[in-house]
Amino acid sequence: MARIKASKKRTTEQVEADEQQAAKDKRAKASAQFVHGLFGLDGLTAVVIGGEGVLGGAIAEGLANAGAHAVVAGINQENGDACVERISQAGGTAEFFKLDATKREDLEALVKHISESKRRCDILVNAAGINAATPFLEISDDEWDRILNVNLRSVRLACQVFGKAMLDAGNGGSIINIASASSETPLSRVFTYSVTKAGVLNLTRNLAREWAEQGIRVNALSPGFFPAEQNRKVLTPDRVDSIMKHTPMNRFGEPQELVSAVLMMASPKSNTFLTGANIAVDGGFTGMTI
Ligand SMILES: NC(=O)c1ccc[n+]([C@@H]2O[C@H](COP(=O)([O-])OP(=O)(O)OC[C@H]3O[C@@H](n4cnc5c(N)ncnc54)[C@H](O)[C@@H]3O)[C@@H](O)[C@H]2O)c1
Repeated sequence: MARIKASKKRTTEQVEADEQQAAKDKRAKASAQFVHGLFGLDGLTAVVIGGEGVLGGAIAEGLANAGAHAVVAGINQENGDACVERISQAGGTAEFFKLDATKREDLEALVKHISESKRRCDILVNAAGINAATPFLEISDDEWDRILNVNLRSVRLACQVFGKAMLDAGNGGSIINIASASSETPLSRVFTYSVTKAGVLNLTRNLAREWAEQGIRVNALSPGFFPAEQNRKVLTPDRVDSIMKHTPMNRFGEPQELVSAVLMMASPKSNTFLTGANIAVDGGFTGMTI
């Protein structure tokens, strides 16, 4: 008799536990559906120019993880292939397209390739960039032109070429330009870079106004400091010390920490009123003075 009672009690506890688990599963499913409804990118194509780089690569992976087909575009085939491989390993779909972002014909060739693949560019991320810490009086005409071309001309060209394709398709789109902490306030030592990033932000806001009614949202993402290829030479020990003193979180960012901000700007289902914004992901860098 005692054994029957114990087993009945166990059964009642089990029933309660099962009910609790079922309620938990239901909540988890509903919240996963809710989040996917806001940020899922299934069926969309995302082009990440400079997607073979450190930040562009993390962004391409994030967009692919959210369901988009990622087109990793840039000059470095080896790094591009590696990024595509990481995306495939994670179950996403991606391809590398070799191009020089400063050349209009290369960008037009990518638009043609996407159209021939029966896709259209829904999301464009401009993440190519180079840098130099040359003292102001020593900046050569060649260096100035090179940095302006890669960091600013490329953004103008991609916005023209892909923006036109988005306008022609009539489905809106999202353009995300990678700006910088130097876009609003110049950063010491990187004179040319700061000029280009101020230009990127200005162009972003201007295009957000220009294309708002056509449903093309244009936003900027301003990362703080993330060790990458283009800034390796710039990040000298004294520079790192100054950066840390000015970064309340007292650390560098991790590339993956940019992904959620990118998804917020990329998704056509959430933040549909978000355009002309500059979102800083910088550990508090631009939020403080001293
Ligand atoms: N790392 C940071 O702390 C930081 C901070 C703010 C903004 N950014 C910006 O983020 C973006 C990504 O830079 P990153 O830090 O990942 O550096 P990175 O050097 O790893 O990536 C830059 C990529 O741009 C590509 N590239 C250069 N010239 C090109 C060209 N002509 N055509 C096509 N691709 C070209 C390079 O191959 C490289 O893969 C850049 O716009 C950079 O200015 C970086």
